[in-house]
Amino acid sequence: MPVGYRDHLKVLIRNTAIQKRVRAVAKQITKDFRGERVHLIGVLKGACIFLSDLIRHIDLDTSLDFMAVSSYGKGQSSSGEVRLNKDLDTSIEGLNVILVEDILDTGLTLSYLRRILLQRKPKVLRVAALLDKPSRRIIAEIKADYVGFEIPNDFVVGYGLDYAEHYRNLKDVCILTLPPE
Ligand code: IMP
Repeated sequence: MPVGYRDHLKVLIRNTAIQKRVRAVAKQITKDFRGERVHLIGVLKGACIFLSDLIRHIDLDTSLDFMAVSSYGKGQSSSGEVRLNKDLDTSIEGLNVILVEDILDTGLTLSYLRRILLQRKPKVLRVAALLDKPSRRIIAEIKADYVGFEIPNDFVVGYGLDYAEHYRNLKDVCILTLPPE
């Protein structure tokens, strides 16, 4: 990215606040699954940073797998189409699965992932999303069990979230303002 690539950014959630909230979510998961194993599934690529912080604060027997989906093109608006780019490495049958998402927006991605994961007969399927934009939901019944922050209808980047693959490395979650497409 050229010099000045941060020009259109405004901090929405500082890293200190993110860390505090991630610890609280991990504590809740630890409490909810006391004595059991949890199998975390990270949705690539956006959830990778949230997942790596979250898992280190969960005080349980854990295991980890990844899926990759694409639902956005290179712009800021959803294509409405979800494509599975990478499937799980191992079976989830009988496991306590927590699907870890970066952001819940229209709900189309989560609705698709829930459908294919439930067919594989996990013991339970929960969803942890760092961010939730409830005002954007197309599929009303789609909700996360653990939410880091509810945010307004702004396009955000950082802490794993991208715009055309940029900005994932920002420590804070920032609002990105670009000219209309
Ligand atoms: P949904 O299917 O509309 O709920 O969108 C989910 C996916 O869209 C997320 O996993 C993100 O990859 C992407 N997404 C939605 N909103 C944003 C945003 O504000 N910034 C970056 N990516 C977003």
